[in-house]
Amino acid sequence: MKIKILVTGGLGYIGSHTVVALLRANFEPIIVDNLDNSKLGILDQIEKIAGVRPAFHNIDLCDEAKTAALIKSEKDLEGVIHFAAHKAVGESVSEPLKYYRNNFNSLLSLLKAFEGRTLNLVFSSSCTVYGQPDVLPVNEAAPVKKAESPYGNTKQVAEEILQDIAAADKLKQIISLRYFNPVGAHESALIGELPAGVPQNLVPFVTQSAAGKRGPITVFGDNYDTPDGSCIRDYIHVVDLAEAHLAALKLLLNGKQATNYDVFNVGTGNGYSVLQLINAFEQTTGVKLDYKIGPRRAGDIVKVWSDVTKSKGKLEWEAKLSIEEMMRSAWAWEQYLQNNQIN
Ligand code: NAD
Ligand code: WQD
Repeated sequence: MKIKILVTGGLGYIGSHTVVALLRANFEPIIVDNLDNSKLGILDQIEKIAGVRPAFHNIDLCDEAKTAALIKSEKDLEGVIHFAAHKAVGESVSEPLKYYRNNFNSLLSLLKAFEGRTLNLVFSSSCTVYGQPDVLPVNEAAPVKKAESPYGNTKQVAEEILQDIAAADKLKQIISLRYFNPVGAHESALIGELPAGVPQNLVPFVTQSAAGKRGPITVFGDNYDTPDGSCIRDYIHVVDLAEAHLAALKLLLNGKQATNYDVFNVGTGNGYSVLQLINAFEQTTGVKLDYKIGPRRAGDIVKVWSDVTKSKGKLEWEAKLSIEEMMRSAWAWEQYLQNNQIN
């Protein structure tokens, strides 16, 4: 019997890579996604990679009744990975209600559906909870700073909700993974990030600009307190990130956790500046980028990268893929999209 894992948001960017990793590791992923920010065609792509078509339910998790009915019908679920959420930081500032409603209601109806039942849950959190850390690399014990955006606030409050649930109910074992900056695509170039509209994130903008879909890249500021003046982030390959979910599941399923709530950083431990990333893209792909230096972007964190000591130790996970592999795979995916449409 394969171990059944519910993957909410499993047709999204990180979810689809995690579903592929689960299939490879002989789990049985069951996907729930309302296609709000993904395409049904991703299910075909997953099948092309893995040779198996996972079960898929088109359900909005904010619908409490439908979520409860699904969980009730799936009696032998051994774990849940909860990716489903809205994630655009800028949009969350202009439409906070949309973010609070979707990100909280989906989480709450999921938790409600598991009332009285065992739940092993991996939750998608973010390094955004640290804001600008005082100490770098930042570890899990660093203070959570006041969120810069409603999106960031949904992650902070969700972590608090999950901690309370785990403290109150011994049937619940929960791990929050704080992702740093996920980039790149599967080595098959059959799945990757599908940004809606103009990408707000750096790497999708870089690949679309290189493909001629967008104009020049604007580097948001080159006068920060960093070696080359541009902001620094910890970019993590989405395939490595997917593997971190398997490591978290393993910890939960083995019951090896000392507490029933824990938090882990998921990054590489290395920081790259915007200009270094642009250079890595050019060097790896041989494609010259057109970029200009522009003004700072409001609310940007100057520099952040992870301390991965805890993830390497307790989670027994560490990133393996280089910045070059991140750039190469992101570019291969962009090129795939130039010749293929995902519907
Ligand atoms: P994504 O938008 O590609 O995937 C999210 C998926 O959830 C989408 O397929 C969407 O259709 C689905 N979804 C959203 N609301 C839903 C609902 N109410 N019911 C059912 N399905 C719903 O995003 P992603 O980049 O894969 O991110 C996954 C998770 O990781 C999110 O929680 C995000 O906040 C978090 N995260 C992402 C990043 C990043 O930079 N990509 C960084 C840190 C944390
Ligand atoms: C990276 C760097 C920009 C675009 C966001 C969310 C965060 C997390 C990850 C979910 C920054 C610079 C960007 C461009 C640029 N998501 N940049 N020109 O800001 O680290 O984080 O995604 O939890 O919550 O805030 O990622 O990719 O937007 O930016 O110079 O056109 O690239 O200033 O330094 P960020 P990003």
